[in-house]
Order: sequence, then C-alpha cells, then structure tokens
Amino acid sequence: MIIAVDGPAASGKGTLAAGLAGYYRLPHLDTGLLYRAVGRAAARFDNTEAFEAEAIRAAQHVNLDDLNPEALGSAEIGVLASRVAVIGAVREALFDHQRRFALRPGGAVLDGRDIGTTIAPDADVKLFIEADSRARMERRARQLEARGVAVDRYQLFHQIEERDARDRLNPNGGFFPAADAHLLDTTQLDIEAALRAAVAIVDGVMATKAPRF
Ligand code: C5P
Repeated sequence: MIIAVDGPAASGKGTLAAGLAGYYRLPHLDTGLLYRAVGRAAARFDNTEAFEAEAIRAAQHVNLDDLNPEALGSAEIGVLASRVAVIGAVREALFDHQRRFALRPGGAVLDGRDIGTTIAPDADVKLFIEADSRARMERRARQLEARGVAVDRYQLFHQIEERDARDRLNPNGGFFPAADAHLLDTTQLDIEAALRAAVAIVDGVMATKAPRF
C-alpha cells in the first residue's frame, strides 16, 4: 500500500506520515528533507550566479541515507529548500529517489508537496493536510523550542507565509491536492486525533478496494 501525504509547511503532515507508517508498519520518507539537504548544500552560494548550478549538483548527489532531520530542521533551511524546489532540474534529479522509495515492495508512506500528483499519482490513498497558518506557525515554534532553538514567532510566521506563496506559485511543482485526495484539516486536532482521522480515511479507502492476490 502506498500512502501519499501532502500539505503546506508545518501542517503536521510529517508527524502524521510518521504515525501512519508506524501504524501500518511501512517505511516512511519525508521528501522535504531532500529539498532541505539540497538547499543547505547550495546555501554558501546564495546570492551568487552559482546558486542554481550548485543546487542541481547537490540534487544529483543526494543520498537518502544521509538525511538528518535534526540538522535540516531550521526555518532558514526551509526557506532555502523552497528556493531550490522551484528549479526544474533539481526536481527531476530528486524524482527517482522518491519514486523508487514509493515502489518498495510492501509499500511506503511519503510526505511532501507533490506526492499524490507527481511522485506517486498511483498511490492507494492520498491525504492532503491543511491547517490555518497561525496554528502551523505555533506548532513549528513548539517543535523548534523543544529542540532548544529560540523562536521569533513574528519572523517564523512570515517565513512560513513566504514559503507557502513560493510553493503555491512553483511553476515546476504539483503543489495542489490531487483530484482523488482526501482533505484533512488538522487546525483543531491534536496529534492523536489527527492520526485517528487519517487512519479512518486510509481504512475506509482500502476497504473499498479489491484485495490484491
Ligand atoms: O516539508 P518541508 O517543509 O520540509 O519542505 C521544505 C520545502 O521543500 C517546501 O517548502 C517545498 O518548497 C519543498 N518541497 C517540495 N516538494 C516536496 C517536498 C518539499 O517542493 N515533495
């Protein structure tokens, strides 16, 4: 079973995807980490002509086993990730890694922006996670604070909004809910309630499918 979990920055899709992976015992890939790794690798060429070429080079050499969520979690790396994510050649270079992961025997859970539309349009279940931007900012602030990072909420809110705008307008992205995606608004839900709601959607969809022999 392939489960695609898409949604905007800090919508809780990563936590939800990890929860679904644990519940259904599937491997999980947070595809945002790929873009974050590329953004970080190209960071020192920011504001130079070499930025795009370095981002493409980094995307061609990215290694799934080297992705460290702790080291890549900052809001600044998130903004860099959204800047390299508009480069078509970066998306192309990252496609195969994600597609191969989705096609692992037994299935997988992937979260990102374009999983249901581009990476795994054939996913068995597609979830599109939403939450209002203030709730998303507060969640991300608490995540960062739990890691000991001092947070300026005003700046974080604007970083999230900036990223949302860039992602929505990404000419090379597929950042919209797939036609067959199930929308889940988690603004009012805590992690457990969101996971219960997601499991109910997945079980509901799978119950309508013929078993595969
Ligand atoms: O999910 P996360 O916030 O870690 O993603 C960082 C950035 O990477 C996003 O803002 C988006 O620009 C980009 N991204 C993408 N496609 C994906 C996953 C992430 O364009 N599948």
